[in-house]
Amino acid sequence: SRFAKAPKSSSPAITNTNTTIMGEQSPKAPVVAEAHAVDTFHPPQKMLDKHPSKPHLSSLEEYQKLYKESITEPKKFWGRLARELLTWSKDFQTVHSGSLAGGDNAWFLEGELNASYNCVDRHAFKDPNKVAIIYEADEPSDGRNVTYGELLRDVSKLAHVLTQMGVRKGDTVAIYLPMIPEAIVALLACSRIGAVHSVVFAGFSADSLRDRVIDGGSKVVITTDEGKRGGKLIGTKKIVDEALKQCPDVGHVLVYKRTGADIPMTEGRDFWWHEEVEKWPSYYPPVAVNSEDPLFLLYTSGSTGKPKGVMHTTGGYLLGAATTGKYVFDIHDGDRYFCGGDVGWITGHTYVVYAPLLLGVSTVVFEGTPAYPNFSRYWDIIEQHKVTQFYVAPTALRLLKRAGNQHVRNEMKHLRVLGSVGEPIAAEIWKWYFEVVGKEEAHIVDTYWQTETGSNVITPLAGVTPTKPGSASLPFFGIEPAIVDPVSGEEIHGNDVEGVLAFKQPWPSMARTVWGAHKRYMDTYLNVYKGYYFTGDGAGRDHEGFYWIRGRVDDVVNVSGHRLSTAEIEAALIEHASIAEAAVVGVADELTGQAVNAFVSIKNGAEVDDALRKDFILQVRRSIGPFAAPKAVFVVPDLPKTRSGKIMRRILRKILAGEEDQLGDISTLSDPSVVEKIINIVHEGK
Ligand code: WTA
Repeated sequence: SRFAKAPKSSSPAITNTNTTIMGEQSPKAPVVAEAHAVDTFHPPQKMLDKHPSKPHLSSLEEYQKLYKESITEPKKFWGRLARELLTWSKDFQTVHSGSLAGGDNAWFLEGELNASYNCVDRHAFKDPNKVAIIYEADEPSDGRNVTYGELLRDVSKLAHVLTQMGVRKGDTVAIYLPMIPEAIVALLACSRIGAVHSVVFAGFSADSLRDRVIDGGSKVVITTDEGKRGGKLIGTKKIVDEALKQCPDVGHVLVYKRTGADIPMTEGRDFWWHEEVEKWPSYYPPVAVNSEDPLFLLYTSGSTGKPKGVMHTTGGYLLGAATTGKYVFDIHDGDRYFCGGDVGWITGHTYVVYAPLLLGVSTVVFEGTPAYPNFSRYWDIIEQHKVTQFYVAPTALRLLKRAGNQHVRNEMKHLRVLGSVGEPIAAEIWKWYFEVVGKEEAHIVDTYWQTETGSNVITPLAGVTPTKPGSASLPFFGIEPAIVDPVSGEEIHGNDVEGVLAFKQPWPSMARTVWGAHKRYMDTYLNVYKGYYFTGDGAGRDHEGFYWIRGRVDDVVNVSGHRLSTAEIEAALIEHASIAEAAVVGVADELTGQAVNAFVSIKNGAEVDDALRKDFILQVRRSIGPFAAPKAVFVVPDLPKTRSGKIMRRILRKILAGEEDQLGDISTLSDPSVVEKIINIVHEGK
């Protein structure tokens, strides 16, 4: 059989006919072992054979025992782990207070700590020569390593610079940087002085950057002269200059020289990184902050047009990162961890920066793309640096699978864990990952989580949890999932059930608020089903208690693992002088998972030629960023609307999916005849 065999004693088969994984027996369907057995993969024996020691947990039973403790005695469980995995300058007494209903959760209350101390100092003191960052530059030959000793120096110097620029504890600093070691240095320098970092993905437009700088109240922006990715140059400083025209509160811009491009520097505002850090000594004492002091803001898309500044606090977030790093990825001392996510998104925060550095291992910082200079780039990096854990979004795997197996390297012998994140992974991609990339010697972990959850929440534990392609498997410690009936709002108990996914208990790394908009936080996550955290995703729980994430149930689309709000794209389109109304929907796409399709109606029935159509797409690129650009724009006479004016996106989705016969009752539309016209336009456009 192509499937891995269960190791003799360490990982018991889960296909037991009497009990199920989570101990919940479905009232409706009896558990049928055989029908599902072929889909279950156990941690490969070869992964365990090549392990430097052994996985942190010895068996699924040990997971179940700890999981049970994390749910029934969360304070005991998290209190123990917080002291084991983090270093506190002042111990805490209260592990947790607050509730989901109240939206006032706080963890490790009296505790004080410093994030950069936990990520850098304690490892540098032990072994300053240990590699912290493996920098893989866009050009394969341009990389370098940064040791923990050097990282401590670099972070300290930058902490001095920021202090000199007037940044104080609690102030926000905007970071608009490509994937270079200085991005990590910047995050850690902020946390060293108790400042709040607010990273804006360096693919966002000037307008988006402006909105985030203003909303977060950033006083300083850190950027590069230019970025370099996939052989292309990105004018980061130019975009910052454009954005700051409307940000009067930003007093300073710190510019790291990445390419040496000739760029204008504004006297008194702009400073060169290399000139400033030279002025300061190599040690800056870490500033202790309260566990609940904010560590960072990260903007994410929701159902409405305005992006939300998700706020994470220090102690709980760091604990989530460290705990998942240890148990989900089975990180051990000496590992070389490679997460392909960008630091501009949550995956980059938690799994490029915080998890590996908290655990004191080497993290790969990759500036480029998986296709440059060729489709072997990831595999070359993995082979060259003897990477032990690799973590990436399915969208990259789809691209690489399509490029052909000849690009995948045969060696990569050190890989033990292959992670997937950000979108559902189709079974055939999962199997390709397992067989072609991992040579059936690495354990696949399909990790489900969100910007708001801070760290993995439904996920296998590497070396421990049996997996099924396409299922994120079982809840992480402290996560008590509930499948809720979206109509009645009632929890659906038992197995073999479908609904929307919510969590019943608070966990340490959950977001505490939306910056400056706590009511929005409550309404989006905690007031939807009182007493629950609502994820916004649909999910099923199968006969064995395994979770299958179905995707968003709100107006969020997932393009290449990037989370986009249809409302935000619509708002961008409507800014165009010719567009009267816009409706944006996500459609299934072979390569990017989902793709953005837009329907627009034109003001005064103006003529639309190809140039104007291109300009509509450009409008979105300008307003949000290139990654949000619609794949198709359909110009329609009118949008399908109810008599009260509500746009029926559901109808547009059905038409795009070729399900015109399943539109349901359209007689309630204000103008039902428009549907036929739209169907014709979509057919012509295809
Ligand atoms: C989706 C990314 C299926 C989901 C870490 C979620 C997933 C949204 C998975 C969050 C997965 C994330 N399987 N879907 N393993 N992981 N998602 O905030 O819809 O950028 O709500 O965080 O991505 O996207 P975000």
